[in-house]
Parts: sequence; structure tokens; C-alpha cells
Amino acid sequence: MSKTRSATEGQEEQETTQPRVRVPRHVAIIMDGNGRWAQQRGLPRAEGHIRGQDALRATLRAAAELGIEYLTVYAFSTENWARPQQEVEALMELLISAIHSETPELMSQGVRLRAIGDLSRLPERARQSLYECIERTKDNKQITLVLALSYSSRDELTRATRRIAGAIHRGELQETDITEELITSYLDTADLPDPDLLIRTGGEERISNYLLWQAAYSELFFSPVYWPDFGKAPLEAALEAYASRERRFGKTSEQIQLED
Ligand code: IPE
Ligand code: IPE
Ligand code: MG
Repeated sequence: MSKTRSATEGQEEQETTQPRVRVPRHVAIIMDGNGRWAQQRGLPRAEGHIRGQDALRATLRAAAELGIEYLTVYAFSTENWARPQQEVEALMELLISAIHSETPELMSQGVRLRAIGDLSRLPERARQSLYECIERTKDNKQITLVLALSYSSRDELTRATRRIAGAIHRGELQETDITEELITSYLDTADLPDPDLLIRTGGEERISNYLLWQAAYSELFFSPVYWPDFGKAPLEAALEAYASRERRFGKTSEQIQLED
């Protein structure tokens, strides 16, 4: 796995006198603060969600330019189903309209769309729009945008555990086949690398049931910026902090320096 890549000069791995800039391969974002952004301006919460779509477009564009390969964004959690029905409906409508209006941009930017979460809970129209866009963008190569929708980590692990138990029950798996790799392969994120950097916007410092397994060794970055105000500059600030961190994965600093 490439841990360091140059953000300059076409991403070649070059020996230069300049210190190499570490660009995370996979960035995960908890897009939080839409409601507070709107409330601060005397606007309905839904307006914050609408402006959040602009922030996602700007962030995705910047991420692609910076050479990030995967961007996984928390768009709607399992727990968010418990919000007032009107807000849930507004968010589902926004999802449908955003997919339709953004698909040409995804195509022109070379974005491959994916989704994780319990998509069976989404309204039929939303699921259909999502699947159509995933199919249309499947061969794009610049960046993969993963939408976490009706997603929570505990729900994902519960669904995965049920499927593993089913496979054991049918005699397709043995108890001793259960390894970390096997569990990983049963998650919604099976074919995605673990996030290197996990950003939460909106000032709260918690994980809110997001990618608990996958983010075991992610670097965490908490931004005070409300999601509708996020974009290239706040993303670059997070990447700068990331570049200055030493990821030790349980080892000593000396061991890591020898590996580099
Ligand atoms: C994040 O913004 C979007 C979703 C959870 C769908 P919020 O709606 O949680 O905004 P705040 O946290 O109330 O400001
Ligand atoms: C997390 O934000 C979920 C999303 C951004 C989609 P919440 O606003 O739902 O999280 P809590 O409730 O403040 O932890
Ligand atoms: Mg919130």
C-alpha cells in the first residue's frame, strides 16, 4: 500500500531535496453543521442541507485535484431516521435531486459513485436514482465518491455478522475461517481501503457511529467549520495537519523512520 505520494509533479515517487507531502489515499468526512449554519442565519434547517450540496461539490473537486483516490462522506445515518419526518423527507428529496443535477459533473470530473449503508431502507425513488448513477459512473477513474446513506457502523457490523452466521450455518464457512480479513470482506466497504484521514466538520468531536472498524488507525481531524462553509481551503488545512502526523500503527517512532 502506498503510504506516501508526492502531491506535486504528477504524483511521481521521486527522491527530491524537498520534503515529500503525504496525501491521504482515502479521506472520510462527517459532514456536520448544516442545521446550525442555517439557524445562525434565521433560515430553515433544510436550507443548510441544500447549501451542503454546494460544499460537497467543492470538496469533491478539490479532493480530485489533490490526488485523493477515495472520498467517503456521511450523508445520512441510521440514527437520522429518527429526525422529524419533514426533515427526513426533505433530505431524501434532496438526495434524488442532487443525484440528477450532479451526474453530468460527476461524469466530467471522472467521479465513480458508490454507496454504503442499508440502502433497502431508502425510498424506492431514491434507491433507483442512486443505482442508476452508480451504474453510469462505474468506469470513471479520477476519484471514487462513497455516499454513506442509512449507514451506521454498528448496523453494518450487525448485518455482516448475520451473513457470516448464515454462511457457517450452511456449512460454507468454519468458525476458524473468521479472521479480521474475513470480517472486512463482509462489510459494505469490502473493496475500499481504510480511511487514512477522518474529518468531522461542525465543531463536535465524536464519531457518531461512523466507520468504527475501518477507522481503527485513521488520523482524526475536527474542524470548527460548519459543513456548508467547507471546501478547498478547509480541506487543505486538514491535509496539512495530516501531513505533519506520524502514523505509527502501534510501532515505535524509530521503526517507522527506518521503514520510510
Ligand atoms: C449534518 O448536519 C447533516 C445530517 C446529519 C443529515 P446536521 O443536520 O446534523 O446539522 P447540525 O449538527 O444540526 O448543525
Ligand atoms: C452525523 O451527524 C451523521 C451525519 C453527518 C450524516 P449527526 O448530527 O447525526 O450526529 P450527532 O447526532 O450530533 O452525533
Ligand atoms: Mg449534526
